[in-house]
Amino acid sequence: MAKNTPSFALSEQEALARFDEIIAADERIEPSDWMPDAYRKTLIRQISQHAHSEIIGMQPEGNWITRAPSLKRKAILMAKVQDEAGHGLYLYSAAQTLGIGRDQMTEDLISGKAKYSSIFNYHTPTWADIGSIGWLVDGAAICNQVPLCRASYGPYGRAMVRICKEESFHQRQGFEILLHLSRGSKAQHDMAQESVNRWYAPALMMFGPPDAQSPNSAQSMAWKIKRFSNDDLRQRFVDMIVPQSEVLGLTLPDRAIRWNEKRGHFDYGDLDWDEFNEVLKGRGPANSIRLERRKQAHDDGAWVREAAAAYAARENKEAMAS
Ligand code: 3HC
Repeated sequence: MAKNTPSFALSEQEALARFDEIIAADERIEPSDWMPDAYRKTLIRQISQHAHSEIIGMQPEGNWITRAPSLKRKAILMAKVQDEAGHGLYLYSAAQTLGIGRDQMTEDLISGKAKYSSIFNYHTPTWADIGSIGWLVDGAAICNQVPLCRASYGPYGRAMVRICKEESFHQRQGFEILLHLSRGSKAQHDMAQESVNRWYAPALMMFGPPDAQSPNSAQSMAWKIKRFSNDDLRQRFVDMIVPQSEVLGLTLPDRAIRWNEKRGHFDYGDLDWDEFNEVLKGRGPANSIRLERRKQAHDDGAWVREAAAAYAARENKEAMAS
C-alpha cells in the first residue's frame, strides 16, 4: 500500500495496518486518518475529562480572587484562572476533532455523567490553599501532562505543549506563595503547613488508581496516548516534591517517606483509595457544589449562546445573499 494513499481508499485491514505502523514509528495520528473506534473513544474520554477538569478547576481558585491578599496576588491569580479556561477550550477543541460536539460534552459534565479530576472536589478555605494548589496540584499536573505532549494523537499532543508551559508558571507561583508564607509569621507558616497537610494525599491520588487497578492504562500505553503508568508518574512526583518541601521548610504529612537506596526513589505511605473512590462517585467534600455552580454558569450564559447563534445566522444569511 502506498504511503500517501488516502484513508478512504483503504480496506479496513489496510487502514488498521497503517494505523499500527504510525503508532510503531512514533508518528502522529491526525483527525483525517482512519483510527480504531476504541482509540477514538479512549481519546474522547480522556481529553473531555481533562477539559472538564480545567474548567471545574477554576472554581476552587476563583473562590480567592476577590480576597487575594494584595493587588499583585490578585492579578496573578486572575491570570492563572484565565489560563485554566484557555486550557479547557484548547482541549474541548481537540476533542471536537474526534467527532464529539461541545454541547454534548457540556451536557455530560453538568448532568454528572462525565468525570473530571478528583482533586477539584476539595475545598479551599485558606489563602495558603492557592499556594498548595499551585505547588502540589499543578506540580502533579505537570508530571502527568509533560509526557502527554508526545501523545500519539496530534491535536491532543500539540494542545498540551502550551498547556504545560503555562502549568509550569502556575507551579512556580504556588511554590512562591508557600515560600513566602513559610518564611513569614508563625501564623502564616502554620497556615501553609495545615494546607499542605490537606492537599498532599489528594494530589498523589490525582495520578489515578494503582496500576493493578487501572483498567485503561495498558491499552492507552500501547497506543502511546499515555507514556507512563499511574504509579510511575506518582513516584516521579514524590521524588520531585520531597526535596522541594525541604526548601519550603514544610513537612509532607507522610511518615513513610524515606530515601530507598536500592530503588533510587523515595518510599511513601499507602493512600486512602476508599476516599478516592467516594470522590469519583460524587461523594467528595465539594462535588455537589462544583456541579451546581457549573450548571448555574451554563444557565446564566444562555443569552450569550443565543446572541452568538443569532449573529452567526444573520452573517450567514448576508453571505448567502451577496
Ligand atoms: N479523578 C477522576 N477520575 C479519575 C482519576 C482522577 N484523579 N484518575 C483516574 N480516574 C478515572 C479514570 O478516568 C477511569 O474512569 P473511566 O474509565 O470511567 O474514564 C478510572 O478512574 C480508572 O482509571 P485509569 O487509570 O484506568 O484511567 P486512565 O488511563 O484514563 O488514567 C489519568 C487516568 C491518569 C487521569 C489519565 O486520564 C490522564 O492522564 N488524563 C489527562 C490528564 C488529566 O485529565 N488531568 C486532570 C487534572 S487537570 C489539571 O490538573 C488542571 C490543572 O490546571 C491543574
